[in-house]
Amino acid sequence: MFEALKTQPADKILSLMTAFRDDPREDKVDLGVGVYKNAEGQTPIMRAVKAAEQKLWQVEDTKSYTGLAGDAGYHDALRSLILNDTVSKDQVAAAATPGGTGAIRQGLELIRMAAPKATVWLSAPTWPNHPSIIKYLGMPMAEYRYFDAETRGVDFGGMLTDLDTAKPGDVVLLHGCCHNPTGANLTASQWQEVADFLKAKQLIPFVDIAYQGFGDGLDADAFGPRHLAKTQPEMLIAASCSKNFGVYRERAGLLMAVSQDPAKTPLNQGTVAFLNRQNYSFPPDHGARLVTMVLNDEALRADWLTELEGIRTGMLTLRQTLADALRQRTNSDRFDFIAQHRGMFSRLGATEAQVEQMRQSHGIYMVSDSRLNIAGLNAQSVPILADAIVAAGV
Ligand code: LMR
Repeated sequence: MFEALKTQPADKILSLMTAFRDDPREDKVDLGVGVYKNAEGQTPIMRAVKAAEQKLWQVEDTKSYTGLAGDAGYHDALRSLILNDTVSKDQVAAAATPGGTGAIRQGLELIRMAAPKATVWLSAPTWPNHPSIIKYLGMPMAEYRYFDAETRGVDFGGMLTDLDTAKPGDVVLLHGCCHNPTGANLTASQWQEVADFLKAKQLIPFVDIAYQGFGDGLDADAFGPRHLAKTQPEMLIAASCSKNFGVYRERAGLLMAVSQDPAKTPLNQGTVAFLNRQNYSFPPDHGARLVTMVLNDEALRADWLTELEGIRTGMLTLRQTLADALRQRTNSDRFDFIAQHRGMFSRLGATEAQVEQMRQSHGIYMVSDSRLNIAGLNAQSVPILADAIVAAGV
């Protein structure tokens, strides 16, 4: 049997991790995988998470199963964090999942069950695992224009023109904030326009929100999903706590199915619980529980907010420092978009050959589509990167 297996394509983000590890150069710079790093290059456990973990160790008295859809307290805490009071609890079915990827997978499976003919529309470009999972599930998919390679901003006209060809009932996958891989995001008024458009065309939004708090702040970053939840008859949301709580390896995610009609929620809830049972039975609990404790404890929550805000503003400073360094070196404002982008990533607009050149000459590792992880930089590496960008002729 095993001989029938075929070698699967390597994930281009994850294979960079290995390449970086194997590079013996001491001054190499890792701008690959989307993991937050502080100025010392570490991915620290957030203070509030560590404190919650200590407390949990003392008070947790069983490792027995939680509910099939995870713990209701986790659903409530994350629903309020993401959607605030834009919907009521009885409008939302929720299931804890192993990370944001688990939520995306479960959301896609729900779509496949409910609407097997629906096409899933993806932004061009998007996180490579989106099309990879959709293809694996054998679902119809299509792309809508999103990134304007010239301005490095959103090609909003192109986006709506392409989505105009979608058929009623199709699903549109949107990045809730901090677009991965480009860093280019919809403005609040564009979100409103998208919402009107989707509703008029009877398209169903599926929002992937994995970086809330990394862009313009926790509330501003949730503007899109909140507005959609208020205005659309139904939608799906896949959320990740990996980044904003720094609990990457704990795999804490949440799938939400939101409906204006609360009468639909019991069926939706039963479906997401069923999907959990089919795929992995009970979802992991440890990370979800830590997140719930942090969000529900006033002091822990305040400390988490402070640390998260420090992470966010630190990345903004790095963006500005890099844009300034490139302004100085090129005597032009053509890299100012780096300071305008939001979130962990920016797409630089370099060719694959230029990316490769930067790796060879300066030990800089970014994804081959020239996505760079801003959090991988620090005061020492910004000038190295700026020099490499100029030397590669980007
Ligand atoms: C990324 O885009 O780098 C992160 O979401 C990590 C991953 O799993 O790809």
